[in-house]
Order: sequence, then structure tokens, then C-alpha cells
Amino acid sequence: GGELRPWKGPMRKVFSPVYLRHGDKLEPSEIGSFPEATVEESKAALEAAVAAYDKGRGLWPTMSVAERIACMQDFTKQMVAKRTEVVRLIMWEIGKNLADSEKEFDRTIDYIKATINAVRDLDNDNSRFLMVEGTIGQIRRTPLGVVLCMGPFNYPLNETFATLIPALIMGNTVVFKTPRWGVLLFTPLIEAFCSAFPKGVINFVYGQGHKVVPSLLNSGDVNVLTLIGSSKVADELKKQHPKVNRLRAVLGLDAKNAAIVLPDADIELAVKECLSGALSFNGQRCTALKMLIVHQSIVDEFLKKFVAALDKLGRGMPWDKGVAITPLPDVSKTRYMCDLVEDAVAKGAKVVNEGGGLACETFFNPAVVYPVTEGMKLYREEQFGPVVPVMAFDKIETALDYVISSEYGQQVSIFSSNPDLIGELVDPLVNQVCRVNINCQCQRGPDVFPFTGRKDSAEGTLSVTDALRSFSIRSMIAAKQTDESKK
Ligand code: G3H
Repeated sequence: GGELRPWKGPMRKVFSPVYLRHGDKLEPSEIGSFPEATVEESKAALEAAVAAYDKGRGLWPTMSVAERIACMQDFTKQMVAKRTEVVRLIMWEIGKNLADSEKEFDRTIDYIKATINAVRDLDNDNSRFLMVEGTIGQIRRTPLGVVLCMGPFNYPLNETFATLIPALIMGNTVVFKTPRWGVLLFTPLIEAFCSAFPKGVINFVYGQGHKVVPSLLNSGDVNVLTLIGSSKVADELKKQHPKVNRLRAVLGLDAKNAAIVLPDADIELAVKECLSGALSFNGQRCTALKMLIVHQSIVDEFLKKFVAALDKLGRGMPWDKGVAITPLPDVSKTRYMCDLVEDAVAKGAKVVNEGGGLACETFFNPAVVYPVTEGMKLYREEQFGPVVPVMAFDKIETALDYVISSEYGQQVSIFSSNPDLIGELVDPLVNQVCRVNINCQCQRGPDVFPFTGRKDSAEGTLSVTDALRSFSIRSMIAAKQTDESKK
């Protein structure tokens, strides 16, 4: 932050998952490159963040909230001017369709604005004085120190900023490691970060996590770890770097959100919501529906309608109008989809639509797999892609047991027209997951709602105001009431 250093090291090429025709071959296209940080460079980024925080004495952590808001507004203005460039890079780098890439950008700007409003409210609250038993006190929300921030590939801008922005505005300094895919889109924003924030407040590390993160965590200089990504990575970090267990962690991890479709459900509505819930952005959302549990009396009708609706879902290039299914960011992803389907088929399930094949190395035709049973990988593994597993149930306990015995606990959806039945299910379910959705798909927004999960799905809560709390601590200034102050 505050300065750009000349780059002498190697550049890493970035290839788009969107294959283009070269002669008679479909091939990935090179769309840019980035300076890949070494361990030393990432350490230098951390040192800059540590120096800017200066144990809480730095310019940034001691600034008033109003001053920090002014920097954030300056940044936002510059960011808005880069909309077209950033949106195009999201689209090309991760294959997200144009409309959703635009939504991601606009939602991020809205998120920054909402954060600015929320921090103002928090600050007004903080400036109140309390008088209790002869002690006068003022509670302040104060920063925690240096935040190591790692965002996901599926919302590289929006979910990264969902931690980066509140961390910054609360007075922390940040080292930000770019996601595995979705890297170039940050480059147009670097100048804005440099000009809007003081030196060292925000530091970018373009690097591979497994190479650069260990030394950052082992340094003892990181105070907060944020990772929106996979539970496996979070577990490895905790295992390999025991110091992580003593850090404040804000983690958004895996989920296996289920939709439970009861016999009296409005099938048309359930199909529409389940289709969009399972396959928006190719199913690559932590909140995606990753298991459909349908009552056996309606499962045939549900599947018929689901497959018919899926057949009409647009597929193609991310810039094509109305497409939902686009290339996945890497061949490792399509291979995993094939593996999940093969495993289920080998164990007795069927692909009930004309799907499951590859159109090219990065394009996987969505597959609806039924009946999925325990013992298949798809039963428990988070597919994070365009494979839709379906199970049938007879007794409601079977569906509840699936949710209760899951190692994850983010959200669930229930589809029924019977308010009494819904009421009976909500209580046990809301104690298992952090959001029960009635007659609609699972989702994170609106962004002022708390967003978290139980069990292995999350630590800490994200939402506009919850995030401000996650990146700060309540400190206070207290004094005994004197005769003078009583007057
Ligand atoms: O990938 C996880 C995201 O937080 C999902 O957000 O429900 O708004 O798509 P969304």
C-alpha cells in the first residue's frame, strides 16, 4: 500500500478456462500474467503491514473513523471507474457469466457503502458514556492488528472484500493473498489502493498459498486469519501451524446444503428454486444446494420436471446472453466432476439427464444423479460444481438425519405448503444449520443478514455489521467519578 515497487522476478501466465478455437482445435487462451511472490516478498508485505500498524500506534489504527471512511470513499470512487475492466477479468478468469460478473462487482460496491454506514452507527454508539456504580466508561471498538486475508475463486472480488473492507475500516492493516483463480482482476485496483490508503495499510501478495502462507503464519506477526475457501485447507493450516489456533479466525468453509422437498410441496416452485440453487454459477457457490432430498411419492415427477427445466438452461460462453452453465476454472475441476459421477454410477446410481460428459477440457455438462446412497462420494463430499445428487425419502427422520449427521452446518431449504409441518421442522433444523430457507433456495444475501455456519462450515460471522465486530475488539476507557465530574 502507498507504494509500488519495481518487479524484477518471474511473471506467471494466466490462461482463461474459456477455450477458443485455434484452427480446428479448442485451446485455452493466455489472458495476462502476474508477478508471483516469493517467500521473501511475501514476508516484506507482512513487514510493511506490521510497520503500518506499529503495535496500534500507526497512522491508520489511530485515525478517527471519519478519516478512515474518507479514505474508503476515495477508494470506492476510483474502483467504480474500473468497473468494465474488473468485470471483464472476472468473466475471463473464472468463467462467470457476464451478468453475474457485473452483479458481483455492483454487490461489492453496495457492500462497501453499507459497511461505511454501519461503521458510522457503531462509532456513534461507541461515543456514548456509561455510568455504572460510580465508574464512568466509554466503550470503543478497536482494531486487532495485522489481518491475513485469503479469498475464494468463486467470488474473488466480493467475498474477498467481505473480509478486507471491514478489516481495513476497523483500523487493521492487511496482507491479502490473491485466490488461486481470479488474480488478474485485482491489478486494475492496485493504484486505487495505493492512492487512497496510507503506505503499508494494504499489501498484495500474488502467490501460491502453500508456498507463501506458512512463513506468514509462522512469523507470529499475524493477528487475524481470514480464509473463505475449503475446510481441507483450513484444517491443514491449523495442523501445520499450531499458532493459528491462537489467532482470531474468520473462516467461511465447505457446506453440503440440502433441500428437503415434502410431498405437499409446490413442485413447480421447488424445481425452479432447486435448479437455480444447485446450478447458479455452475454450482460453484458455498451456499449452493448440494443434495436434493425428495419424498418418494413425488420423486419421479420432480425429476422429470427438473430435467426438463435443466435442458432449457442456457449453456455456452460467459459473454453469451442468458447462459447459466459456463466453463469451470480449471481441468482439475471437470476431472473431479467426472470422478464423482463415475463413482456414483459404479455404485448403482444413474445419470437421469443427458449430462455428465465433457464438451471440452473445462466444460462439464451438468449431471443429475439418482438415487444417491450412503457410500457414494456424492453423498458426503462437497461437489462445488454442476453435479446434482438426488435422494428419495419415506420418513421425514431420514431427511433430518442427513442434515444432523453432516459434518457441515451452513444452510438448508424446506419445500412444503403446510405451515404446521414447516413449523415442526424449523426448530430442529435451525439448531443444526445457521439458516433455514422456506420454499426458497439457500443463499448468503441480503448482505446485512448474518452469514455463518456450524460444525466444519465456518468460524466467525460475516455480514455487514457482524464483520465489523469480527475484526475488532471492545476496549474501554474508564474513570472513577469524582466530585468534580458529578457537577
Ligand atoms: O460461495 C459462497 C458465497 O458466499 C455464496 O454467496 O449465496 O450470494 O451466492 P451467494
